[in-house]
Amino acid sequence: MKLNRDKIIEWLRCNNQDQLKLLYQQAYDVKLHEVGPKVYLRGLIELSNICIKNCLYCGIRSSNSIPRYELTEGEVLSAARFAHEEGYGSIVLQSGERQDHAFIENVDRLLKGIKIATSNQLGITLSLGEQSFSTYKKWFNSGAHRYLLRIETTNQELYQRIHPDGHDFDQRKSCLKDLKKIGYQVGTGVMIGLPWQTVDDLVNDLLYYDDQDIDMIGMGPYLPHRQSPLQGAGPVDLNRNFEWTLKMIALSRIFLRDVNIAATTALQTIHFQGREWGIKAGANVIMPNVTPMRYRQDYQLYDDKPCLNDDASLSADCLASSMHVLSVPIGYKEWGDAPHYHNRMKDKPFGPICTDESFHADK
Ligand code: 5AD
Ligand code: SF4
Repeated sequence: MKLNRDKIIEWLRCNNQDQLKLLYQQAYDVKLHEVGPKVYLRGLIELSNICIKNCLYCGIRSSNSIPRYELTEGEVLSAARFAHEEGYGSIVLQSGERQDHAFIENVDRLLKGIKIATSNQLGITLSLGEQSFSTYKKWFNSGAHRYLLRIETTNQELYQRIHPDGHDFDQRKSCLKDLKKIGYQVGTGVMIGLPWQTVDDLVNDLLYYDDQDIDMIGMGPYLPHRQSPLQGAGPVDLNRNFEWTLKMIALSRIFLRDVNIAATTALQTIHFQGREWGIKAGANVIMPNVTPMRYRQDYQLYDDKPCLNDDASLSADCLASSMHVLSVPIGYKEWGDAPHYHNRMKDKPFGPICTDESFHADK
């Protein structure tokens, strides 16, 4: 099936469940062909809920009065060791956004510590918001090799409506360009079903991923948070957002082919098997939460986030059996890079501008 703007719009509007089944099946076949049958696991460590930003949709925005926390170095290292021992090939360090010197140095120390603690084996993705070029480069040189920064929406007007003044759309786009220039595997994505968002916006999001040669896609349904201003924008159709997200996963897979696509926790929030649905629609990455349990209730970007009380070992077993039921093998101990990254780097004989090979070699 050849996709273009009109065809993508047609699919996003399609309500015929038999046809949609065929769409998901085709996306699954493209996944098998382009990135293989495995699902790759990234252990998610939520470092801190302290954030300088005040996004109108988010539960940990700076003006919300919630208990704020920051994991200690020991807690981060033990979560990373746990992920390593469970055979997760890599981890994601995520937190609210901070750009102060102490934070930058702390992350840098953590990167080096995790590499040493796991004999250079664990891959590290960062999801720490907008930073300067030199900070991104410093962290890359200390061992981070992937970076997730969602564009949130590619419609500038909508971006401004869901962010307060001072949150700069052009800055966000420029950060994504910096990350690519440095040599990161770059991930982005959007929230799906935002107030005022249209099907046209979603097509433009998909075309943006292609235009920017993005390696990894993380998209999830927009979910309201009771303490966020966007909650006041009216009722949210969770079923529609769920279905739009599955369609966007499938269409991204068919259109972009060799990228990594995550089945996100937000999908699981709407349906207890949401991540499994995501995998069946063409996603190939799952990010199980390995944050110490006592902090999880304070990292709620949206209401009803699942797994707040799930023991990480039991969740790992649960995930293994649910993938087994779907006949999806898990890529234990593998980084599971998106082939797209290696394909696009082939065109660059000198590689990224600042790679330390000892940190960035896959096993
Ligand atoms: N609903 C869904 N996703 C959200 N995020 C933040 N708040 C919400 C919400 N209310 C997502 C954003 C951000 C990522 C870390 O979490 O896309 O980039
Ligand atoms: Fe901070 Fe990210 Fe939430 Fe925005 S979405 S308030 S940057 S944690």
